[in-house]
Amino acid sequence: MTTVQISDLEAQLELIKQEAQATIAAATDLDQLEQLRVKYMGKKGPIPQVLGGMGKLDPADRPKIGARANEVKEAIQTDLDNRRTELQAAAIQARLEAETLDVTMPGTYRPQGRIHPLHGTIDTVLDIFVGMGYAVAEGPEMETDYYNFEALNFLPDHPARDMQDTLYLPDGNLLRTHTSTVQVRYMENNEPPVRIVVPGRVYRRDTVDATHSAVFHQVEILAVDEGLTFTDLKGTIKVFLQQLLGDDLEVRFRPSFFPFTEPSAEVDVKWKGRWLEILGCGMVDPNVLKAVGYDPEVYTGFAAGFGVERLAMVMHQIDDIRRLYNSDLRFLRQF
Ligand code: DAH
Repeated sequence: MTTVQISDLEAQLELIKQEAQATIAAATDLDQLEQLRVKYMGKKGPIPQVLGGMGKLDPADRPKIGARANEVKEAIQTDLDNRRTELQAAAIQARLEAETLDVTMPGTYRPQGRIHPLHGTIDTVLDIFVGMGYAVAEGPEMETDYYNFEALNFLPDHPARDMQDTLYLPDGNLLRTHTSTVQVRYMENNEPPVRIVVPGRVYRRDTVDATHSAVFHQVEILAVDEGLTFTDLKGTIKVFLQQLLGDDLEVRFRPSFFPFTEPSAEVDVKWKGRWLEILGCGMVDPNVLKAVGYDPEVYTGFAAGFGVERLAMVMHQIDDIRRLYNSDLRFLRQF
């Protein structure tokens, strides 16, 4: 029978160790390293194979070769652990370098935008009314005759209803001519007390010139409660205009007419020595309250509405409404 010399097995183990250490040292990533671990430390690896030849060894030598095999295994395991630590550190270092931010590099120049004077005016107005306890409400720009006219107490033959003044849609609906539509929509869905401020775009069949545009902006307010009077309306409007244009502002109420308010007034302010008409207002007509199911014997209200462009033109001394739409940066940069 052939016998195996212990020195043969020792030589095989030494070879396995050297080969394993060389390939572990050459592994370049953690996946490769894991494959090597499986290859050398697994149950079907080369070391158990060598130990399989122990049977042919002198029994006295068997414990020695077993001990030697364990030393080799431990040596390989140590190398695997060390290499893993190195590769992990290298991976972190590579990520750190890849994600380095060079704070000395020149930035990308982006011109700074700013609020458009129209929206700035709207924001200022909303802020003032929100400060007085009003909630911001909005409504659709495409409307029915009912919300734009009928529920607001316009007579069937009122001139505003004419094709000459209002932009009608092919289906018989229309582009709202004022934000007063939202008064009706809001009251239909909310019980009194009401205090709302309504910004929005409105449409008229106007030829564009220095003071007219087919599309412009309005802000509307509405307050409904028990016991509101014309005094409340006057006080509210006066406080609003003074906060907007200055404390020593002169304000004048002039009788006027709107279908949805009774009595109605227009408000002028003294601006650079001239009276300028700024807004329309009045006590909500009982017919409007009835249309939304409020009892006019219990509730009264006041409302007001004005054109934002006009106000912005007065505040900023803008000579032509078209400047607000042309997006000319030479103009807009002045705000
Ligand atoms: N809706 C009116 C217009 O477009 C403005 C207006 C006047 C609104 C009086 C009101 C109001 O709420 O009470 O000219």
